[in-house]
Amino acid sequence: SEPLDIAVIGGDGIGPEVTEQAVAVLEAALAAEGRPAPRLTEYALGAEHWLATGEALTDETLEALRGHDAILFGAVGAAPGDTRIPSGLIERGMLLKLRFALDHGVNLRPARLYPGTTSPLADPGEVAFTVVREGTEGPYVGNGGAIRTGTDHEIATEVSVNTAHGVRRVVRDAFRRAAAGERKRLTLVHKHNVLVHAGHLWRRTFEEVAAEFPEVTTDYMHVDAATIFLTTDPARFDVIVTDNLFGDILTDLAGAITGGIGLAASANINVERTAPSMFEPVHGSAPDIAGQGIADPVAAILSAGLLLEHVGEQGAAERLTRAVWAHLAERGAERGSTAEVGADVVARL
Ligand code: NAD
Ligand code: IPM
Ligand code: MN
Repeated sequence: SEPLDIAVIGGDGIGPEVTEQAVAVLEAALAAEGRPAPRLTEYALGAEHWLATGEALTDETLEALRGHDAILFGAVGAAPGDTRIPSGLIERGMLLKLRFALDHGVNLRPARLYPGTTSPLADPGEVAFTVVREGTEGPYVGNGGAIRTGTDHEIATEVSVNTAHGVRRVVRDAFRRAAAGERKRLTLVHKHNVLVHAGHLWRRTFEEVAAEFPEVTTDYMHVDAATIFLTTDPARFDVIVTDNLFGDILTDLAGAITGGIGLAASANINVERTAPSMFEPVHGSAPDIAGQGIADPVAAILSAGLLLEHVGEQGAAERLTRAVWAHLAERGAERGSTAEVGADVVARL
């Protein structure tokens, strides 16, 4: 069969460092499975690219990206204190532009406490849950503005947009994933006691779709309470479905309780398969550790595993996951540099 055609965007900071290892592991997993080597096309994008060219993401690059089977993405963004680049310019103008333009309605973020890794929680239990985060709506759409800027009478708004289409799409995807799993539990997380308009759309949609999945046990939690239970009893969760902003916040928390943000993978999925999906770690460009070769590439590697699964390379995906599990279980806390971790996983393939 045809080789996989993958776009690779390393980005900024530790993005290129972890992506290099993810690519090496992806290639090794396909080779071990006897599959053809993937065709890789690198794209220079991110804060550094903007500083050099003044371009965040041109229409031309966006169209070129559409032509690939999938996108492997590292991380973009400048250090929070960097004044050379307006805050949000790259995040909105490049990363979110890609998620929106490629209609990544589902942002899938599995959270698992792997054998050999240590949670900061004293007694976490068996933690294995998946956050199904909406990816194209909510307060992320940029629907807002400010008036009387800089005065005592300034008013700034950031309106959360929730459509029946977007909510139904992500809720249905979450039900499917819950139904396909062993525990068959789905928790809706929102804040419908305060955000009544969007909250009621989410709640009503959740109840409607639940009727199609009688085998799935459902419950509901307000997002503030969800942070309590994710900290005190994370093992209770199976699949969580939530909006774009709540999902962003909960998945950093999920990363922290499962042994570190350096292990947390994610997939931005175009559910209808009308454009390529994009696979990236949950973490950012980590300017505080960039250039030192010490970033953990496991999140990026596991994201490449989600890519393989999405494009139908189940065999290679399973090999990759097994190799990472063995690496984490056997190497424990002393797993080494970015390059050493990558090499150890490749060796296991
Ligand atoms: P961050 O995720 O980059 O870093 C938070 C903390 O986690 C830092 O202490 C960092 O050193 C640590 N960390 C992150 N990844 C790690 C890894 N693989 N191994 C070891 N430690 C790791 O979040 P931030 O500091 O809030 O953001 C930095 C920049 O990244 C900002 O410009 C932000 O907008 C951007 N960002 C981009 C993405 C993305 O591209 N998807 C995601 C989040 C943040
Ligand atoms: C993430 C990041 C992004 C988000 C930012 C950088 C736009 O935090 O992927 O979690 O909020 O989705
Ligand atoms: Mn985030």
